[in-house]
Amino acid sequence: MYDLVVNGVLAHLGIGDHEAQRSYLESLRPQMRALFNGYQTSKVNTSYEPEDVQICYLLRYFAPYSQLLQQVLTPIGGWSLGTLPTLTVSLLGTGPAPELCGLLKWLGTPARTPLPSVHAHLFDSGDWTFARAVSLGRVLPAVWSEELSIQSHHLDVSCAWNDQPDLEAVLSSSNLIVLQNCLNEIDTTAHTQILQNLRWLSTTMIKDALLVVIDRTRYEPVLEFIRNVKLLENEGHLACARYEENAYYDAGALHNDMPAVLLNSTLLYRQTAFENPIPAEKSGLVVRRNLDYHAVAMRKV
Ligand SMILES: C[S@@+](CC[C@H](N)C(=O)[O-])C[C@H]1O[C@@H](n2cnc3c(N)ncnc32)[C@H](O)[C@@H]1O
Repeated sequence: MYDLVVNGVLAHLGIGDHEAQRSYLESLRPQMRALFNGYQTSKVNTSYEPEDVQICYLLRYFAPYSQLLQQVLTPIGGWSLGTLPTLTVSLLGTGPAPELCGLLKWLGTPARTPLPSVHAHLFDSGDWTFARAVSLGRVLPAVWSEELSIQSHHLDVSCAWNDQPDLEAVLSSSNLIVLQNCLNEIDTTAHTQILQNLRWLSTTMIKDALLVVIDRTRYEPVLEFIRNVKLLENEGHLACARYEENAYYDAGALHNDMPAVLLNSTLLYRQTAFENPIPAEKSGLVVRRNLDYHAVAMRKV
């Protein structure tokens, strides 16, 4: 997966010469460190608009974050998702949409015939034009060759959803709705409104549709939010299909497949057990092997 992303970025930028690739990637070290440092506070405040920030996000986070949804869906068989002829998915706060990439990989493994047509709706409050040109235009075609339509929508997930008819039309026809890794970028005072939005959503979702919330563990208010989503089962519209606190994804296999062009560039380093503390020159550039997360999957009954 890292190779698809790196090659996609370099091809999109038209950098073909090996030495030019290495030095371009190396030149991103300050931006990569800044992006990482932005996540080390409890309230993330990162602007994703600059192209180099989007590139750093793609290079570092796209591959591991494409795995989380797959890992949540696998034990529950995704309910009926894998058997539907047409699948409509809504991805909230999705940025460059690693969840979509992971979902498509998951749908195609093990090889199923026929594969569904997928209609994906990407929602975000930010502008991810550059990164999506790479992820949708260059990475997705390598993992999915079936029918796929994609629509992008602007949405601040912390605004009330129930008075937006266009949004209701999309969400209430979706078989899968995912909110992954964006709660910590939203002020905790707005979490109540987002929960209220999910409560409203639970009344409009189609039967057997899945609502999945996944987020990294280090932000305390996120756990409270995810526990509250699980409590929605007491209101009669949703049943809990999967609930995990402090789960983790082992990215060892992904790391082993990191391409030489990335490793040789010294832009990113794989985490090893032996470097503690991390040497200064690698500071902020070491990719963790274990990705900790909380997750809840709720099915409409
Ligand atoms: C860390 S990225 C996660 C992207 C993707 N879900 C993933 O797992 O890689 C956080 C995303 O949340 C989006 N975001 C932040 N605040 C938001 C809001 N109020 N409404 C919608 N999206 C928001 C950002 O633009 C960004 O795309």
